[in-house]
Amino acid sequence: MNLRAIAALIICKIAFEGKSLSECLRLETAKIKNPKDKAFVKAVCFGVLRKFYYYDFLAKHYLEKPFKEADQDLHCLLMVGLFQLLEMRVPDHAAVSETVSGAAKLKKPWSKSLINAILRNIDKEKIAAINTLTKEAYYNHPMWIQEKIKQDWPAEFRTILEVNNEHPPFSLRVNLQKTSRDNYINTLSAKNMQASPIQDTPGGIVLETPVDVEKLPGFKEGLVSVQDGAAQLATGLLKLEPKLRVLDACAAPGGKTAHILETEPSTDLVAIDVDQSRLDLIKENLTRLKLSAKLICADAADVDKWWDGNKFDRVLLDAPCTGSGVIRRNPDIKIIRREQDIENLNLIQHKLLENIWKVLKPGGLLVYVTCSIFPEENYKVLKDFTDKHNDAFEIKIKEYWGQDCEVGKQVLPGKNGMDGFYFACLRKL
Ligand SMILES: C[S@@+](CC[C@H](N)C(=O)[O-])C[C@H]1O[C@@H](n2cnc3c(N)ncnc32)[C@H](O)[C@@H]1O
Repeated sequence: MNLRAIAALIICKIAFEGKSLSECLRLETAKIKNPKDKAFVKAVCFGVLRKFYYYDFLAKHYLEKPFKEADQDLHCLLMVGLFQLLEMRVPDHAAVSETVSGAAKLKKPWSKSLINAILRNIDKEKIAAINTLTKEAYYNHPMWIQEKIKQDWPAEFRTILEVNNEHPPFSLRVNLQKTSRDNYINTLSAKNMQASPIQDTPGGIVLETPVDVEKLPGFKEGLVSVQDGAAQLATGLLKLEPKLRVLDACAAPGGKTAHILETEPSTDLVAIDVDQSRLDLIKENLTRLKLSAKLICADAADVDKWWDGNKFDRVLLDAPCTGSGVIRRNPDIKIIRREQDIENLNLIQHKLLENIWKVLKPGGLLVYVTCSIFPEENYKVLKDFTDKHNDAFEIKIKEYWGQDCEVGKQVLPGKNGMDGFYFACLRKL
């Protein structure tokens, strides 16, 4: 087993087959037994993907002739080698020799001398002085995303791109049914883990140094869960009260489902997701937290197939989206997403909102959420909906976080350490 070859194969599947990082990591690292080795592959993949366009530029810069289409795994292996030399604390000789051995593991031993020659002759100062970087390589985003963000958020454009390329904070949600945020921060501190509150949230904290979740005090007992700060804002908008009937329409992996139940355990909650394997993750999460909800695997828009006719007091629609607000957590989004996806997802967002509206009680509240910063997936969907439905009335979000949009509010990536999320609240008249 060669860890560099595994990382190269994963990056290749993302870059050339459009697969997702989480899926590739799960499948390709399943056989790695040593947790340190697993963590190494993960760190290399995340690192290369965060600066994919830069390493792609560098690899092309050093290759006299690009690799053939069938040998793109070698192109990715070269990026893996460059990343180790420039950003990792691996000794240079080990980085080079292990990467070169990776070429043999990829069954392409003919490329060993070429990869060896390039990596051995890397001059870090010369690389830092390269001033012919393309815009893609400089900002580490494809041009369409750069142009889109520049058009949608001209004043915040550079900051958003910078934040997207950073390591995200390790954010947690303290289970306020079981302990207080201050207590949990003190418990962490007693174990030499420093954490600070996420100011906009009731129970959010950021841990200074990430650790394996199993090492978090009380994790198994449900004292704490991993969740970004902005994702924790959705539950407050639902204005929960005891014993309400609530629908979580696109629920997996269940971060918000669990937060709803932690906040108001008497909630009669139905959680739906179209993907059974992701629905299983909700079950896992709820079991750890000793919470329960009715879980249904269905297309939430196909109301006739899953609905029992009892209307809901609250609906959370955390709609599928491009994920343009969470690029720092999922750097593969920059590579696998296409501009056309916005339109395709938009059809789904409209359809979900349109059909789910029918199951909301008159007087009930619907909270629409995405982890996107593109207006087409956010306020424009809501604007279009409220224009067409005279029983839909926007409840303005009167919180000090986020930026007001024509409808709803946007948190931009990095604001108060949070991910980019959009929120809107509709009351049914
Ligand atoms: C943004 S994620 C939800 C995150 C989740 N609410 C949480 O807080 O953990 C969107 C989810 O919508 C699901 N999904 C996509 N289309 C759907 C549909 N038509 N009906 C139900 N679920 C859908 C996806 O499988 C995905 O799990």
